Amino acid sequence: MIILDQENRVFTLHTQNTTYQMKADRHSILLHTYYGPRLRGGDLSCLIQYADRGFSPNPNEAGDERDYSLDTLPQEYSSCGVGDFRLPSVEFEPEDGSRLADLRYEGCELRRGKYGLEGLPAFWGGDEWETLVIRMRDAAAKMLVELYYGVLEERDLITRAVRVVNQGTGTVRLRRCASLCLDFQRGDLDLITFDGCHTMERCPSRAPLRPGIQCVNSVRGASSHHHNPFVILCEHGANEDYGLCYGAMLVYSGNFQAAAERTWLENNRLVLGIDPCNFCFTLAPGEAFTAPEAALVCSPAGLGRMSRQFHRSLRENLIRDPFQGKRRPVLMNNWEATYFDFTADRLVEIAGGAAGLGIDLFVMDDGWFGSRDTDLSGLGDWEVNQEKLPGGLEALVPRIRALGMDFGLWLEPEMVSENSRLYREHPDWALGVPGRPRARGRSQLVLDFSRREVRDYIYKAIRNILDSAGITYIKWDMNRSLSDVWSAALPADRQGEVCHRYVLGVYDLLERLRRDYPRLLIESCSGGGGRFDAGMLYYTPQIWCSDNTDAVDRLRIQYGTSFCYPVSAVGAHVSVSPNEQNGRVTSLETRGTAAMSGTFGFEMDLGRCTPEERAVIRRQTAFFKEHYDLIQNGDYYRLSDPFADPYAAWEQAAPDGREALVSLVAGPAQAAAPFRRLRLRGLDPALRYTVNGQGDYPGDVLMEAGYPLPMFQGDYQSLQLYLSAVSED
Ligand code: DGJ
Repeated sequence: MIILDQENRVFTLHTQNTTYQMKADRHSILLHTYYGPRLRGGDLSCLIQYADRGFSPNPNEAGDERDYSLDTLPQEYSSCGVGDFRLPSVEFEPEDGSRLADLRYEGCELRRGKYGLEGLPAFWGGDEWETLVIRMRDAAAKMLVELYYGVLEERDLITRAVRVVNQGTGTVRLRRCASLCLDFQRGDLDLITFDGCHTMERCPSRAPLRPGIQCVNSVRGASSHHHNPFVILCEHGANEDYGLCYGAMLVYSGNFQAAAERTWLENNRLVLGIDPCNFCFTLAPGEAFTAPEAALVCSPAGLGRMSRQFHRSLRENLIRDPFQGKRRPVLMNNWEATYFDFTADRLVEIAGGAAGLGIDLFVMDDGWFGSRDTDLSGLGDWEVNQEKLPGGLEALVPRIRALGMDFGLWLEPEMVSENSRLYREHPDWALGVPGRPRARGRSQLVLDFSRREVRDYIYKAIRNILDSAGITYIKWDMNRSLSDVWSAALPADRQGEVCHRYVLGVYDLLERLRRDYPRLLIESCSGGGGRFDAGMLYYTPQIWCSDNTDAVDRLRIQYGTSFCYPVSAVGAHVSVSPNEQNGRVTSLETRGTAAMSGTFGFEMDLGRCTPEERAVIRRQTAFFKEHYDLIQNGDYYRLSDPFADPYAAWEQAAPDGREALVSLVAGPAQAAAPFRRLRLRGLDPALRYTVNGQGDYPGDVLMEAGYPLPMFQGDYQSLQLYLSAVSED
């Protein structure tokens, strides 16, 4: 519920459990007065403290009000260079070369429903949403700034977006434009970020904020393996079940910066948006820029609830039809089974090995097109390699379908190999500065997706492929970071736009695919989880979580990923043991348990499995399908921290608490292991449950005292417990 008190210029956003408030004060500065557990409302500006602090300037119109300074006040969307020396949100450079922003409140508007953002991903929905638009203006620069707020009450979700319009007669260079600024008048917060690298993405890292700026970012052109555009600020003692936490996510797939600043007044400011490094957008008179959407969830009851609110919002209000809440296929991918070395017959043999095991979709990975026998060549030539696949997809796809599986395909549309026909014909279509040698990544260059003609060409090629055979799925890969960023299509003073225009170009192509092939399931990937963000999820309802398929590492990666993203977004497969990335040996059961907390699939030659292993796989796919809704759409609880605890354990519970699936993977074998009990969550304390069809366990006992864990023999043993409430008749 949004409450506008126009007289006192107080704007209050209530969600089910939280309250967010701003107030335009006597100088028309938009103050951020409160964000936290739900309050009754009223004007909360009484919470704001004023003090005269040395070297904190006062706005001109404040005269001798020495205790009124932008440097100390909590601002809703921070100014730049006019007396607030903390992180700015926006920066204008008009033709006089100044680089300031001084925003004053001008008006607001309340709308039913959710605003949309042209060309950008955004949460969507109907009348369960309300939208508030606040207009601010920098009078000297003649810049209008519109702040958008979407409120989804039941989910405790507040979305934000920013639109900047040049209303003057001269050109203005927009040097930064954050999507979100959040000021806290308290300093006792921890910052949690999700960091890592290729094959070890999104490992949580938590530390108390210390004085100064702590920041994670990406300038790689994609959101990156190294940091995720999702961060949490929380009370020092907050854990899964207790404490105040704020999750902030950017719905964007390119360069980003999440910066938290703790000041000498022990206040905190969080600014989230496109990384200002290498960003500069030129706005001619009348032109506008829209910053990507950001989304906030505040949970007064721990990290677990915050995650569940994000999961649900992403599943129900970001991922779009026809995949929203719908069943996705259990797939089999040939990558780790063959790498580049395959023929049509070999693929059919592998698919044959998967037939009858409950696998719905066969995916042909990299290596099927152009001269792609290694990763040194072929990208950009999206035509079937007839030597490997005689007769093309028209011949191969029916053979796979005859085995009872749909057919899917790998693509890497944004890239080009120098050894390709496309590059020989259009060398200027790759990003790069003429006269400067370009860096290669995985021996490839990046196509300039900011250019319409480049996208059109690639789109036509993709359409030819899709139209040639019944393809129901594509894996959209992206295997390097952007370097040598320069576009032949833009003038010198607009090169700061290339990275953002590139991302808009990716979104444009994905949207066209969605429009023309509405039933095509797209799984995105960037060497695993190098672009695992809500922006991609808007177009691709699942994302290959990591190139690391080792079950034990994966559980850590999936643990970190779960703080923001739902199980249904996480591409996860069973692969061979010893694992190809780290040589670890794990059982098929353990690998299945890990992959089942994702979209579930296989990445190995199942034809080589023993009859006993095939029986296990058949049971796994049947179990997964039987409990699909619980696994994918149930309420997710982290029951342990696999970075710190001797096991990884998690649970999906039905919202009514009548059933739950608990999964656990123990660590290395341990003699004389201590007795352990696992406390469950999300059950009904008043009900009794069977566990894997046996016994009679009271819900309160399972939640308060826990379930006694067995003594495991061997390394990395796993356990799946299906709990079902016993009907009371
Ligand atoms: C990186 C992906 O993450 C892998 O799964 C595989 O598709 C390779 N690219 C293919 O080149």
